[in-house]
Amino acid sequence: MAKLWAGRTDGALDQTADDFNSSIRFDSRMYRQDITGSIAHAKMLASRGILDPADAEAITAGLTSILSDLEDGTLTFDPSAEDIHMFVEQVLTERIGDVGKKLHTARSRNDQVALDLRMYLRDVCADISAKIRALIDAVADQAALNRSAILPGYTHLQRAQPVTFGHHLSAYGMMFARDLGRIRDAVARMDVSPIGSCALAGTTYDTDRRLEASLLGFGSISLNSMDGVSDRDFALELLSAFSITMMHLSRFAEEVVFWSSWEFKFIELDDAYTTGSSIMPQKKNPDMAELVRGKTGRVYGDLMALLTTLKGLPLAYNKDMQEDKEAVFDAVDTLSMCLDVFAPMIRTMRTLPDNMRNAAGRGFINATDLADYLTKKGLPFRSAYKLSGEIVAHCIANRTVLEDLPLSVYRAFSPLFEEDLYQDISLTACVEKRISEGGTGPASVAAEIEYLKRIAHPED
Ligand code: ARG
Repeated sequence: MAKLWAGRTDGALDQTADDFNSSIRFDSRMYRQDITGSIAHAKMLASRGILDPADAEAITAGLTSILSDLEDGTLTFDPSAEDIHMFVEQVLTERIGDVGKKLHTARSRNDQVALDLRMYLRDVCADISAKIRALIDAVADQAALNRSAILPGYTHLQRAQPVTFGHHLSAYGMMFARDLGRIRDAVARMDVSPIGSCALAGTTYDTDRRLEASLLGFGSISLNSMDGVSDRDFALELLSAFSITMMHLSRFAEEVVFWSSWEFKFIELDDAYTTGSSIMPQKKNPDMAELVRGKTGRVYGDLMALLTTLKGLPLAYNKDMQEDKEAVFDAVDTLSMCLDVFAPMIRTMRTLPDNMRNAAGRGFINATDLADYLTKKGLPFRSAYKLSGEIVAHCIANRTVLEDLPLSVYRAFSPLFEEDLYQDISLTACVEKRISEGGTGPASVAAEIEYLKRIAHPED
């Protein structure tokens, strides 16, 4: 494609340099935003008398036809175009003649690309947020199904205290709910139109930036034109929000991997989300969870790449900034795919509550409750803690568990022990007694699930 900027030079680039410089192969995905932005620009120019109304109409009609032809595949991207902005302008001029050349009045590709990326990411955020809500919904449904399945809660990956699987799952739901909030915050700060900043210094034309911004659904405009074209904070903010979401998915994925191992067997993944081994017939591998865990590093890498690209850049636009898009798009695609596979994987997994309970029945995870029992009977907690530790050591030495130790043995340790002890240290009681708000007790878990459901279905 001939260069629209030819003039100062003849625009004849060395072929390799031209390919190196071109961004159409990745920025073409912003065609919808680019064209929508241009239509608003033409309207704004006409409203200020900068463009003749008939010219603005011809431009709008031309742009609309380009959009629909791209949508239905009648028009395809020219790989030799420099970028999406040049491509659209060039096709427009081919279609409507010299009038098309008036569109680029009072703007620059520098503010145009800043606008397109904000608009694109705004759309992406709506899409990703819907996917996170679908995941929260799946998590909440599994939590509800497993609200009374008791398993060991771990600290240091050592059995610590009994919790319900519903409570454990809801913890992830809370994380994803915050991820949604972070995306919402990033979108709020992204809601600023840079268009009209032009190359860097604004323009001599009497434009109406606020009208153009409102035509495009922006709440406000950037207040400094140099900042308007240089700012990529919005992309960084989003990449960090996405990185945190990936980190949450990855922790969850890690648990899915070991929960589905033979050593744990707390869950069985649906066949649709597992693979077999080409050599070991017994294998059912949690590849999807592993890939999600693996792809997390990619998204962190995208964030680091963009931070590094920007760190040494003088104001205002520099071509380095073209590198923002591949990192951003990769993170968007990766997170989007991970959510697409993760939500149904969680929804369809089968839980094995008996195995969970068996695991909870060993490992003395009711030892805290034993100490609490003694404390309720009047012993100071520190002394109760020590005595309970001694009883655990006794059980280990005698290959038994707290539930099976006879009362006479308990009473040899302390006369405070009575028959009601066994009820108090039963796993069900251990869970049900944890009535503090946010604890693993049934009322709290029900409230958590309800909260998550409301986040998943804000419109209800
Ligand atoms: N393709 C460019 C980018 O993505 C568009 C802006 C180019 N501006 C310029 N003056 N060369 O950043």
